[in-house]
Order: sequence, then structure tokens, then C-alpha cells
Amino acid sequence: MREFNAVVLGAGGVGKSALVVRFTQDQFLDTYDPTIEEAYSKTWTVDDELVQLDVLDTAGAEQFTAITELYIKAATGFVLVFSLIQEASLKEVSNLRTQIARVKGVSEADVPLVVVGTKSDLVYEREVQPETLKELSYQWTVPFYETSAKKNSHVQEAFDDLVRQMRTQ
Ligand code: GTP
Ligand code: MG
Repeated sequence: MREFNAVVLGAGGVGKSALVVRFTQDQFLDTYDPTIEEAYSKTWTVDDELVQLDVLDTAGAEQFTAITELYIKAATGFVLVFSLIQEASLKEVSNLRTQIARVKGVSEADVPLVVVGTKSDLVYEREVQPETLKELSYQWTVPFYETSAKKNSHVQEAFDDLVRQMRTQ
């Protein structure tokens, strides 16, 4: 069985932990408890191959710090998370993507990475429009997923995609 590791990065309160807990434990984290750092793991089958993914859930970081740099160095794959109901959190994803390429010393296109927009169930509070994401996805050549940890929507797909990218590295 092949093992991979990924880190989940993004602004505070966007739903990183809820995403990872939905993915690894199939539960919805209803209450907000800010993360310091938490390690998770899941073993599942992607295209007939059994894989293990170790996922590091991190504290929300509005600023790029020495810790963020350490996380980037240690990880192979990246889940960049923003909230569909908070436009400013998308800007953070853009910064992170640039920093990841810089720290890794590779072209942005060569980093296994998925961008995840959370809280798609909160349709009436939505601030980021699908067209914006479609445009960014095209510009960056990076897959975007609109997810809901609450409704369990497109969570598994995002992680399947990440593993497929890491397998071909
Ligand atoms: P930090 O660890 O502080 O960076 O926060 P986080 O990004 O891990 O956010 P967390 O997963 O703790 O979620 C913050 C709040 O948003 C919690 O109250 C969650 O229940 C809520 N939340 C997360 N995902 C969803 C979702 O898909 N739908 C809805 N409705 N609420 C969500
Ligand atoms: Mg958290």
C-alpha cells in the first residue's frame, strides 16, 4: 500500500477541520474549536488501489509564518481551503499557492494541490460566485471543489483528486 501525506492550509474558521473530520471520520463538526495542530489518517481505495493518506490539519493562518513554511516543506500534497461565504479567504489561497511554489522551488503547476471552497450548503450567505472559481481554476490549472462538510458534498472527490495527482509525481 502506498502512503502519501498532505497538509490542509487556509484562513481561520473556513472549515478546514470540519472538512478533514468529514473525510476521515464521516462526521460533521458542528461546534467551532480553533485548531492548533491535528494529525489524521485515512486508508481507502482510489481507482482500485488501496492508499493511505496522512493529513495534517493546521491552525488558521492569515499570515505567512515560519510555521507555514515548515508545513509546506514537510508536505507532498496540499489542500488549500477557503470559505464560499467569505470572499477574503480566497485571497489567502492565492497567497499560499504562490508561497508553496517558492518554498518547494518548483513551478506552481508541479505541486499536487486541490482548492476547496467550503460551506456550499449556506447558499444564501454565499459571497464567491461559481464563475470566479471557474476562471481561477482555468488560470491556475488547479482543480476547485465546492464542498459541504455538513451535507457531505464533494469532500471525497477532492481527496481522490489529490491522491491521483500525488501518484503521478
Ligand atoms: P481554525 O482551526 O480556527 O482555522 O478553523 P477551521 O478552518 O478548522 O474551521 P472549522 O472546521 O472549525 O469550522 C468553523 C465553523 O464552521 C464550525 O462551526 C463548523 O461547524 C462550521 N462549518 C464548517 N464546515 C461547514 C459546512 O460545510 N457547512 C456549514 N454550514 N458549516 C460548516
Ligand atoms: Mg480547525
